Amino acid sequence: MHARCSVCGEPAVARVEYARKWLCGAHFAGYVEGKVLGALERYRLVERGWRVLAAVSGGADSAAMLGVLAKASVALGFRLAAVHVDLGIEGFSEASRRAVEELCGSLGVPFAVVSLPEVAGVGLPELARRARRPVCSVCGAVKRYLVNVAAAEAGADVVALGHHADDLLAYAVKNFLFQRLPELAKLGPKTESTGGLVGRVRPLYEVYKSEASLYARLSGLPFTEERCPYSPNRSVEGEVRAFLDSVEARRPGFKISLARGLARNAGLWGQGPRSPPRACRVCGAPSEGELCSFCRLTLKALGRPMGDVAREKVREAV
Ligand code: FES
Ligand code: ZN
Ligand code: ZN
Repeated sequence: MHARCSVCGEPAVARVEYARKWLCGAHFAGYVEGKVLGALERYRLVERGWRVLAAVSGGADSAAMLGVLAKASVALGFRLAAVHVDLGIEGFSEASRRAVEELCGSLGVPFAVVSLPEVAGVGLPELARRARRPVCSVCGAVKRYLVNVAAAEAGADVVALGHHADDLLAYAVKNFLFQRLPELAKLGPKTESTGGLVGRVRPLYEVYKSEASLYARLSGLPFTEERCPYSPNRSVEGEVRAFLDSVEARRPGFKISLARGLARNAGLWGQGPRSPPRACRVCGAPSEGELCSFCRLTLKALGRPMGDVAREKVREAV
């Protein structure tokens, strides 16, 4: 016997264990959209009239986020645009960029592509090699910087990130285990804008990875399955993720409770990301010292701080 949707009786496509329901495609989509709308309202992530800039990677998670936000923007009255950072990773970046173009085209969401090779003259792997730093850590810093510049240049009120509950919880638990407690302060559903730092929100805060992928697939949203060749195969985060999943399998809803607890208490661990006190001498971005982290990185790797060039290119793109 095939399972039937608990709402309408049509053939089911998904079992949502913690809600004790089988759902058909339409009701599953409605259920994920309801969860995102619930988070937007519960955590007050967006306001009517705001400009929301969604950072999209080309993968299923941010595709799901953009798909739901495109619908929510009509209901909640905010303006939506997207930005994609092309990292210049051979093969992977082309596939990602194509997916973003198709995604935004199909949803009718205006978007900009900011290309690291155009900004810095080299792609991410070469930049990291010359800076003698791990690719993933340079990647995080570059994306944070370029997305923030794009948001500031576009006059966005907030940046939306496609981090789902599984990402956030694995990262939070890992940092708790290593007692890097100030990291936890960054993991709430939102951070406010301060100075030159545009605030960030996480609409998928209570959505599981499996739900986001299935939503993207069932909604026919274009995305790439290509994995970044630099994503580590056996990380501590991966182990933590497997552990959380094994508890979830026995106690459905466990991860949602953890996410809500993290949302409640993230602020207790510190101030969260705040705008550093100074403005970078080269590009004007918020900075701890004379140069911002991007200008320091490019100075070390390329012999010249590139923040001013980056800002110029981003301004042309957005
Ligand atoms: Fe950032 Fe792979 S996408 S290192
Ligand atoms: Zn149904
Ligand atoms: Zn700078």
